[in-house]
Amino acid sequence: MLILNKTTGVFSNLSKGKIYEFLRSFNIHPGKLFLHKLVLGIETSCDDTAAAVVDETGNVLGEAIHSQTEVHLKTGGIIPPVAQQLHRENIQRIVQEALSASKVSPSELSAIATTIKPGLALSLGVGLSFSLQLVDQLKKPFIPIHHMEAHALTIRLTNKVEFPFLVLLISGGHCLLALVRGVSDFLLLGKSLDIAPGDMLDKVARRLSLIKHPECSTMSGGKAIEHLAKQGNKLHFDFKPPMQRAKNCDFSFSGLQHVIDKMIMQKEKEEGIEKGQILSSAADIAASVQHTVACHIAKRTHRAILFCKQRNLLCQSNAVLVVSGGVASNLYIRKALEVVTNAAQCTFLCPPPRLCTDNGIMIA
Ligand code: KG4
Ligand code: ZN
Repeated sequence: MLILNKTTGVFSNLSKGKIYEFLRSFNIHPGKLFLHKLVLGIETSCDDTAAAVVDETGNVLGEAIHSQTEVHLKTGGIIPPVAQQLHRENIQRIVQEALSASKVSPSELSAIATTIKPGLALSLGVGLSFSLQLVDQLKKPFIPIHHMEAHALTIRLTNKVEFPFLVLLISGGHCLLALVRGVSDFLLLGKSLDIAPGDMLDKVARRLSLIKHPECSTMSGGKAIEHLAKQGNKLHFDFKPPMQRAKNCDFSFSGLQHVIDKMIMQKEKEEGIEKGQILSSAADIAASVQHTVACHIAKRTHRAILFCKQRNLLCQSNAVLVVSGGVASNLYIRKALEVVTNAAQCTFLCPPPRLCTDNGIMIA
């Protein structure tokens, strides 16, 4: 709580008047009875301002989200103060929309849950400061949430999954493999030694100037690569999956990214075009990059499954791998993971794409 109090002090930016105005905007519905406890979840760790109301049985009563992707695409990446400003501009509206969609007034909430880490400090601060003021006004309990734990546990909203299970989290900021032994009991088995796969795909998409591609202009880097890859030949470029000899479950993406950068430079020379123009081989590059990333992720995950099976760390009768995070919405990467889980007789589970990327539901 000490950390939370300090953080509020640093980031506090919404006046008491604004919070009161926010609370007054709700009509209280006398006589309405909720059978279950209701939690408001608030997420602002990166570039999505999201909120949702979920009841204790996992029913989603309402949600709202504001994505900053388009703004950050134009600036070629997330500029933290810009993200912070956009969170400030949208948080009140998004929380209000989530509550209105749920037909729940703030006084009916049982608790407020908010992402407190990991993420961009300036972005996290907006959600935290807003939540703590709301908590203070409403006199409700506050539940601090770890963003990656929320991603890992989201599957329990859509599937009945027993502990322990293996989880692979692949997003723009994270890449980790962990054994989930309980709601807050995680054993880290592997992580990226450098950047996350989503970060790498975003960098490659930027280097290929896919924002100028008419079909990809509003897509995140990873989504643009997936889209373009469908039109390309994955065997056209022979990129080697990283860390083939490493006897652990770690990942690495920055070496591969440098190799791709070099190759793009060479192709630009060959085609006689400037940096910033779209290569005629962009679709083949996208397909080859996606294929190599998928192979790397699948191979490292296969090692983790075998390790867990050897040591009886997973459920004997039904070993489960859960994959989540923004990159898990990539259907080609999912397919590669399905191949290794089938081979290892392991059940493969993935939340629906809209629950793989950042959202308020997973926090609630
Ligand atoms: O989980 P997320 O919404 O935010 C965090 O990073 O926490 O993930 C966003 C990342 C971005 O890097 C984006 O390029 C990537 O997920 N992504 C994808 C796809 N959709 C989003 N990567 C590959 N294929 C996709 N379809
Ligand atoms: Zn995330």
